[in-house]
Amino acid sequence: MSNYHIKHLEEYYQVYRKSVRNPEVFWEEIAEEHFMWRKKWDNVLSWDFTKPEVKWFEGAQLNITENCIDRHLYTRGDKTAIIFEPNDPKESAEHITYKQLHDRVCRFANVLKEKGIKKGDRVCIYLPMIPELAISVLACARIGAIHSVVFAGFSASALATRIKDSECKMVITSDGSFRGSKTIDLKGIVDEALDECDTVQNVLVANRIDSKIKMKEGRDYWLEPLLDVASTDCEPEIMNAEDPLFILYTSGSTGKPKGMVHTTAGYMVYTAYTFKNVFQYREKDVYWCTADIGWITGHSYIVYGPLCNGATTIMFEGVPSYPDFGRFWEIVEKHKVNQFYTAPTAIRALAKEGVDHLEKHDLSSLKVLGTVGEPINEEAWHWYDDNVGKKKAPIVDTWWQTETGGIMITPIAFATPTKPTYATLPFIGIQPALMDENGKEIKGNQVDGRLCIKFPWPSMARTIWGNHQRYKDTYFAAFENKYFTGDGALRDEVGYYRITGRVDDVIIVSGHNLGTAPIEDAINEHPAVAESAIVGFPHDIKGNALYGYVTLKETGESRNHDNLRKEINQLITEQVGPIAKLDKIQFTAGLPKTRSGKIMRRILRKIACKDTSNLGDTSTLLNPEIVKGIMDEVL
Ligand code: WTA
Repeated sequence: MSNYHIKHLEEYYQVYRKSVRNPEVFWEEIAEEHFMWRKKWDNVLSWDFTKPEVKWFEGAQLNITENCIDRHLYTRGDKTAIIFEPNDPKESAEHITYKQLHDRVCRFANVLKEKGIKKGDRVCIYLPMIPELAISVLACARIGAIHSVVFAGFSASALATRIKDSECKMVITSDGSFRGSKTIDLKGIVDEALDECDTVQNVLVANRIDSKIKMKEGRDYWLEPLLDVASTDCEPEIMNAEDPLFILYTSGSTGKPKGMVHTTAGYMVYTAYTFKNVFQYREKDVYWCTADIGWITGHSYIVYGPLCNGATTIMFEGVPSYPDFGRFWEIVEKHKVNQFYTAPTAIRALAKEGVDHLEKHDLSSLKVLGTVGEPINEEAWHWYDDNVGKKKAPIVDTWWQTETGGIMITPIAFATPTKPTYATLPFIGIQPALMDENGKEIKGNQVDGRLCIKFPWPSMARTIWGNHQRYKDTYFAAFENKYFTGDGALRDEVGYYRITGRVDDVIIVSGHNLGTAPIEDAINEHPAVAESAIVGFPHDIKGNALYGYVTLKETGESRNHDNLRKEINQLITEQVGPIAKLDKIQFTAGLPKTRSGKIMRRILRKIACKDTSNLGDTSTLLNPEIVKGIMDEVL
């Protein structure tokens, strides 16, 4: 099992050097040793960032579910694959063994086939964190259908946009979902979304909350009766290495969400390899990632990465605050969790509640802690280290993106000495570069710049669904021959990276990427609104909160501002989802613009952060009087 459990820093450097000196030899070895192939590749890698085109393991044939499930049946058939921990702590947890997972995935796959789903068809999955979510993802992969999971907190209109963009043939949902003490009418949201989508032929509905819902005849089917009669055998569809596995939407700084396309072999190899190394997962460990499978973290590190390694992975349906803020720790104790992976926003929310909740629970099983999704501030890092890990569990601060498919810059637990707020070193095979504004690479240490990646890695997204040009423009146009991440970073004196945050108009709120454009579009639909601009400003728990500057049409100026604020947030909730609601709304006489008509968000950001002493270069500003007006009102 060479290179699979890197044990110390020296070994990391050794393996790292090998991986970048001869990437093809390196990845070929990993792929040979640790996966099940129906046919081996003809060529490990071909790539051209100018097109851009990247192919890994071309010519190989496989099915990822054979790697995630079938091959474990002989060695780990009775081992728990998934532990489902329900929203309500009084409902008992469900342990699904690899054998049971196999049967349930096959049944589900047969239902999909029976409803006419074939290789290459897109299936939208809009489900809460219940076993059917992981199972339906795997069932799609089993038959070669492309899943597009949409986080079940998105609104009907956001869901519709995604369904339409990838022309999904089917939607899989549930009657509703539990979220803390509330229930959410998911099927109602799907019905509303489908008013606008004409490609969807069927809706499969899991019964989760036993609610009375409307079923449209000939379109909607309850899932359970179909599963009951389906066979537990389903031959896996043999896929080519570069066949799409899934689409997952992520916000861009402009325009509609981007459907990132991930393909099969490279994604599998990289997510499995990173999972095992970063978290140092061992056979009997119980691993828990608190993300939702609606995000890339859940795809790669709840489903594919862990299952490929035959791990036991927890799916938690609920929220950290229900029934109280001790819930996470109760679950850690109950299932004796060994690796715990969460987001800085959750850590901050829990830290705010003090340590009483922690002290009630035995957390001694914890060996490794992880964070992902946004920069972790120093205070939260120490709180996590002191109180959760008791200074004994290394924190892996993992930097990566929907686009990268897997973890890119991270400590390897027990091997890489950690440093608060630093994602530390590039993972094996990853070649980062910091770039200056003129497009030149900044070499050496103690420097900062825009973070790029110079060389392909197996799990990188291959395109944006239906819009390859946009893929090229967004990621490969800013810097020649490099993938541009959209993040800024610094490299310290020993070569450790610290991610400083987005350098574009994506704002990360509670770990969720929000593009400014769709939110502004929602606001601008209000009849009284002329124009708007959104920026982020620091927030104790969410990391960033949203600040909206809104200019009213003349006809709207006499309206009650508090009512307007409510209506604007209502529009945002409907069109994007409640996570995108604005914390502050300031009505302004105009927005600062450049001569070419671009809104100068940089200035608005500074004002929102009350950091107005130096607004930077304002020479291109068309209307300085507007800036003064906005500042006078704030300060
Ligand atoms: C940010 C989540 C600092 C970053 C896997 C990135 C981070 C964006 C970290 C991608 C981290 C993610 N430290 N920033 N450890 N992890 N980010 O696509 O700005 O939801 O570009 O993928 O989150 O978010 P996404």
